[in-house]
Amino acid sequence: MKAIAIEQFGGQEVLKLVDLPVPDCGPGEVLVRVKAAGVNPVDWKIREGWLKEMLPHAFPLIPGWDVAGTVEAVGAGVQAWQVGDDVYAYARKPTVQHGAYAEFITLDAAHVARKPANLTFEEAASVPLAALTAWQSLFGPGQLKETERVLVHAAAGGVGSFAVQLARNAGAEVFGTASAGNHAFLKELGASLVIDYRAGDLADAVRQAAPDGVDLVYDCVGGPALEQSPAFLREGGRLVTIVDPEMAQRFSEQGVNASFVFVEPNADQLDLLRLQLEAGRLKTHLAAVFPLEEAAQAHALIEQQHTRGKIVLTI
Ligand SMILES: NC(=O)c1ccc[n+]([C@@H]2O[C@H](COP(=O)([O-])OP(=O)(O)OC[C@H]3O[C@@H](n4cnc5c(N)ncnc54)[C@H](OP(=O)(O)O)[C@@H]3O)[C@@H](O)[C@H]2O)c1
Repeated sequence: MKAIAIEQFGGQEVLKLVDLPVPDCGPGEVLVRVKAAGVNPVDWKIREGWLKEMLPHAFPLIPGWDVAGTVEAVGAGVQAWQVGDDVYAYARKPTVQHGAYAEFITLDAAHVARKPANLTFEEAASVPLAALTAWQSLFGPGQLKETERVLVHAAAGGVGSFAVQLARNAGAEVFGTASAGNHAFLKELGASLVIDYRAGDLADAVRQAAPDGVDLVYDCVGGPALEQSPAFLREGGRLVTIVDPEMAQRFSEQGVNASFVFVEPNADQLDLLRLQLEAGRLKTHLAAVFPLEEAAQAHALIEQQHTRGKIVLTI
């Protein structure tokens, strides 16, 4: 099968189009013919070797943790899926090797969910990792409730744009940070206030809108935005970061209710997301679609850290 793989860690040039065997479908697995693969910041971080202390890696390594496609075969013991079913999944596995930048992928059948019927394969592949991250953060340690107020840092990105909509759909009021060019986009997604992190003082802008602070800060960017976030929280408020576990730990030691979330596969949550997508209450925005062969260009784009919504590869 055709795949993009790396033989060593490195820059975009290590991404090579190769021919690899179609993986065997083991017991409890499904073999999926990949129609589209989502591109996420973690893909280039894996390519550079940033996660090698955290998870086992093996070469040749096919990147890609987001997939939409059609079931091609089912392994022994799999009852829930049949050949021909259209599915989507967050495809992280215990060892980083067999990802979604390929014509075929095997997946744990329990991690696979029915593809939202109203989405193209490209749209569906853009959802799982980012939307699951937002869901698990807001409603896990974030404990977001109706009538509460959440501030989302990097609200226009893949995770942030889902977080804004999921928080709004849960009845919360949403503030977001983004550069000026993304403000109209975020208003459309349901943010009541969008703050330009490049203009003026962030803390002043938040305090002006919410003098007692916000109930939840959801950090999708780290750095100075995260560093100053405890100052935006109301007493007893929560802070969740998906970027900086060390800073979350430091804040916790200082008495802030701070958590780091690392997204886990969860097919039940993908089903709940599908219902919102099919009802038109949750939307995905595709900033760019590249053919598989142009994975390096997709990485070059996402590495700039200014994607609005999502980038996808079509296979
Ligand atoms: N722990 C986990 O499980 C997990 C899961 C998913 C993602 N992540 C991590 O979370 C981060 C975000 O992921 P993503 O997929 O949302 O990334 P992304 O789509 O690449 O995010 C791009 C967005 O970041 C915004 N941005 C850049 N600098 C900013 C700043 N200083 N303040 C506010 N917004 C800023 C940009 O908006 P402007 O163009 O308007 O600046 C752009 O819309 C990445 O580091 C990723 O690796 C972690």
